[in-house]
Amino acid sequence: MAKEKIKIIGRSKEILELEKAMSLGRNVLIEGPVGVGKTFLVRQVLESLGLDFERIDGDTRYTENKLTGWFDPPLVLKKGYVASCFIEGPLLTAMKKGKILFINELNRMPEAVQNILLPAMDERHIMLPKLGRVDAKPGFLVVATQNPREFTATHALSEALLDRFEMIPLYYQDRDEEIEILKNELGPKVRTDVLERVVDIVRATRNHPAIKRGASIRAAIATLKLFVGGIDLEGACLMALPSRIEMVSSDDDPRQLVRDLLAMQIFPEFKEKKSPQK
Ligand SMILES: Nc1ncnc2c1ncn2[C@@H]1O[C@H](COP(=O)(O)OP(=O)(O)OP(=O)(O)O)[C@@H](O)[C@H]1O
Ligand SMILES: [Mg+2]
Repeated sequence: MAKEKIKIIGRSKEILELEKAMSLGRNVLIEGPVGVGKTFLVRQVLESLGLDFERIDGDTRYTENKLTGWFDPPLVLKKGYVASCFIEGPLLTAMKKGKILFINELNRMPEAVQNILLPAMDERHIMLPKLGRVDAKPGFLVVATQNPREFTATHALSEALLDRFEMIPLYYQDRDEEIEILKNELGPKVRTDVLERVVDIVRATRNHPAIKRGASIRAAIATLKLFVGGIDLEGACLMALPSRIEMVSSDDDPRQLVRDLLAMQIFPEFKEKKSPQK
């Protein structure tokens, strides 16, 4: 299928690695901090290649049946345990049709659910009770994303599962690329110097000794959307950033920290000049 234009700014190395790995039939795990662009990268690459995929968003209550499929009780009562009474889950559909299974936030899934993937990824078949063996068609592979281990509400992947993935780590992008992303998202609605201020504040949260987890490009986009919507820059930063950063000590107030960063970034000109041309 014809390749559509990719809307991703930068990331050429990661795009190439992901495309190559998939063309070689390898399963790929993209790992990086919250909001760094993992889901966006995978979705854009799959869509630009015109690849058919099944998407799952992992959560702690995801069940084994939801992944593989289940027998529909009313139908089973009528017909018994026959294949036509089985409602296919995304894993089964992807295997039978030779599609990509895109698992977003893989390590939010309970370990028992993760384990079902092992034979599917390795031996390319699974055994289902009362249904028997299901084989994977060529083209089936798993592309997954996850936050690194230190993040809460995740279940560390087993060594066996990690052993079946090739890993592409995603780090925060450089300043110029982040400014470019914001320009792309917000168009000409925001002055470049305002974009730069927001990028600098957001980037400062990532290196601050009192902050465990800094803000991402998603936080910068949110700040600027509030600003474009008419909230002054200081207010926008205070609305968008504190909830998106995690302090090392729970006694510290992220709101105060954002205030301190704003003060360091010398904002008075923005307060005085409520320019009509934002
Ligand atoms: N390289 C990029 N080019 C263009 N836009 C990007 C890029 N990286 C991130 N973005 C923007 O940032 C947003 C957040 O990215 P995304 O949702 O993929 O992050 P994530 O790493 O999946 O976050 P989470 O860990 O919360 O799931 C995207 O919707 C997109 O608008
Ligand atoms: Mg995501």
